[in-house]
Amino acid sequence: MSDVFQKEYHPESLQEKLKTYSADPMIRVVMMPKDTNALGSIFGGVILSQLDLAAGEEARKTAGRNVVTKYINGVDFIAPVKMGDWVSFFTRTEKVGNTSVVVRVLVVAHRGARRARLFEVTEAELVFVAVDDAGKPAPILRAT
Ligand SMILES: CC(C)(COP(=O)(O)OP(=O)(O)OC[C@H]1O[C@@H](n2cnc3c(N)ncnc32)[C@H](O)[C@@H]1OP(=O)(O)O)[C@@H](O)C(=O)NCCC(=O)NCCS
Repeated sequence: MSDVFQKEYHPESLQEKLKTYSADPMIRVVMMPKDTNALGSIFGGVILSQLDLAAGEEARKTAGRNVVTKYINGVDFIAPVKMGDWVSFFTRTEKVGNTSVVVRVLVVAHRGARRARLFEVTEAELVFVAVDDAGKPAPILRAT
């Protein structure tokens, strides 16, 4: 796990959860003024869009072919994201079917000059379907 996760601020429960994901996030972005709502915090849709991108990349790697988003479970935002936060999207493949891949995503905001204060933003599960060139469901191409 990279050094930023060794800092003292983040709660134990988040630390434990992070251990169940790959050490490096699939995507990490800095939130800018264009991403804010009228209250000055970040639009939920901005986070959802990145969440879909990160999970899709995980599913594409697992499937070995192009995938489309089929289903996103209920997303519960438990902490706000603020302008200037670094936001990490950690992913892991939960289940591989004939044509579908279930991916779990953990969204973490890193705050402060040292990015050392970590906040869990949400955790979501998404289903992707592997597709052929015609956009029809296609079998997962397993690496083995
Ligand atoms: C994805 C799409 C090609 C699937 O076609 P479909 O005929 O509905 O697919 P199927 O019913 O054969 O299901 C395909 C797989 O998805 C799974 N699946 C379908 N709906 C699901 C759901 N709600 N939850 C979990 N899994 C689901 C099926 O179990 C199946 O998995 P398996 O092959 O691993 O057993 C089609 O629905 C589509 O093009 N949807 C739009 C996708 C898109 O554009 N997304 C972006 C929106 S902007």
